[in-house]
Amino acid sequence: MYEMDRLSDKDHVATPRYVVENIYDLIDIRSFKSIWFPFNHYDSEFKLKGDELKLKYKATHIFDDCGNDFFKTKPPEGCDLLISNPPFSNQNEIIEHTFELADSGKIKSFALLLPIATLETEARAKMYSAHEDKLSILIFGKRIKFKGCTNSFNRGCCWICYNIPALRNKRFNWI
Ligand SMILES: C[S@@+](CC[C@H](N)C(=O)[O-])C[C@H]1O[C@@H](n2cnc3c(N)ncnc32)[C@H](O)[C@@H]1O
Repeated sequence: MYEMDRLSDKDHVATPRYVVENIYDLIDIRSFKSIWFPFNHYDSEFKLKGDELKLKYKATHIFDDCGNDFFKTKPPEGCDLLISNPPFSNQNEIIEHTFELADSGKIKSFALLLPIATLETEARAKMYSAHEDKLSILIFGKRIKFKGCTNSFNRGCCWICYNIPALRNKRFNWI
């Protein structure tokens, strides 16, 4: 299923390595002890770089052996960071669920890679402003060319980060 999905699903947009390495540096990834990659299969750069750095993580994906749907999967024990590039098409539900996980203490912090347009719409503005005390937004100065996508797909993106200690003084930055 996964092999078919990654070739045909418009929501399967693979993150390039430089984006992963950059955010890992910015948030000091080594300071986290229990990380969750909820939209990531074996070929994800988040996971591959995580292996190189010997990070302690759990990677799950809707088409892995257990069919780990993000909305039904429990974060790993003591999860102090959720980080991923989620499907953009149902970002509202994903953002809402991620804030619920943070509000209920099931995850301590998160970083979601999203299109710039995530900053608009009333529904998202409401969620972001309700959490703005611990929010940091990192905006890409240059559009991202995602792996396996043609240049016409290049997207302006940003990281929506919540409660990340290394970003405490970076509430709104261009990267
Ligand atoms: C934007 S892609 C990111 C792929 C990879 N994580 C990366 O960054 O290179 C999002 C992935 O999430 C998967 N996905 C979609 N809905 C999901 C869900 N409810 N739970 C878990 N994974 C899901 C899609 O099949 C797709 O492969």
